Amino acid sequence: MTNTPATHVPDATDVVGLYDAMFRRRDTRAEFTGEPIPAEVLDRILTAAHAAPSVGLSQPWDFILVTDPAVRRSFREHVHQERAVFNDQLDARQAETFARIKVEGIMEAGLGIVVSYDADRGSPAVLGRHAIADAGLYSVCLAIQNLWLAATAEGLGVGWVSFYREEFLRDLVGLPETLRPIAWLCVGPVRDLPTVPDLERHGWRNRLPLSEVVHHERYDPIRGR
Ligand SMILES: Cc1cc2nc3c(=O)[nH]c(=O)nc-3n(C[C@H](O)[C@H](O)[C@H](O)COP(=O)(O)O)c2cc1C
Repeated sequence: MTNTPATHVPDATDVVGLYDAMFRRRDTRAEFTGEPIPAEVLDRILTAAHAAPSVGLSQPWDFILVTDPAVRRSFREHVHQERAVFNDQLDARQAETFARIKVEGIMEAGLGIVVSYDADRGSPAVLGRHAIADAGLYSVCLAIQNLWLAATAEGLGVGWVSFYREEFLRDLVGLPETLRPIAWLCVGPVRDLPTVPDLERHGWRNRLPLSEVVHHERYDPIRGR
């Protein structure tokens, strides 16, 4: 009998590198240098995104790379309008905190990546999606997380922008009606990555202790809030 290991056993530096990228990863807004991303690095992070798991191997993502300053400016204007819409929903104290928080680095990062979801790809028989339609969306989010971690390992920053109306972004980058934009990602070289999320630094919200979100055997309503 051959003794073939079922799994690749990573060496210690692989493991440290993976955890390091996970814990150094930060949503980035203000730290972009504006420098371009070397073509081979961009190719690597897109390849990492495209290696993500997907329901039924549907690979329902597309990546639209946007560098045109006019398009980015137009998107930023729209985001600022939506920021005002959100601001109107806040009480005075929240609005004061929110005023200090930057929510995008669209012009500072030289590249925007619009990630979209195509529910028709591989359909109708998407293996594993018959009962949970959202499984397609989960797949796109995994591709985004792969890209985010790979970008972090490459020394790039990524900022996810969601202050937009889907129809606006769809029109802006020419997505067909059947595709949903899931994210605008600001991507580029950074001076550094903050160690604390901006939202924590500005007192908007803190990361919860792990013990509040881990449940044993059954969901404990005292914990999950
Ligand atoms: C789905 C999603 C949408 C987000 N939208 C925005 C956004 O519009 N603007 C922004 O500044 N950050 C956005 N973020 C980043 C979060 O604010 C950030 O992940 C959170 O504050 C934790 O910080 P960290 O990513 O640096 O750990 C988004 C993150 C996710 C996952």
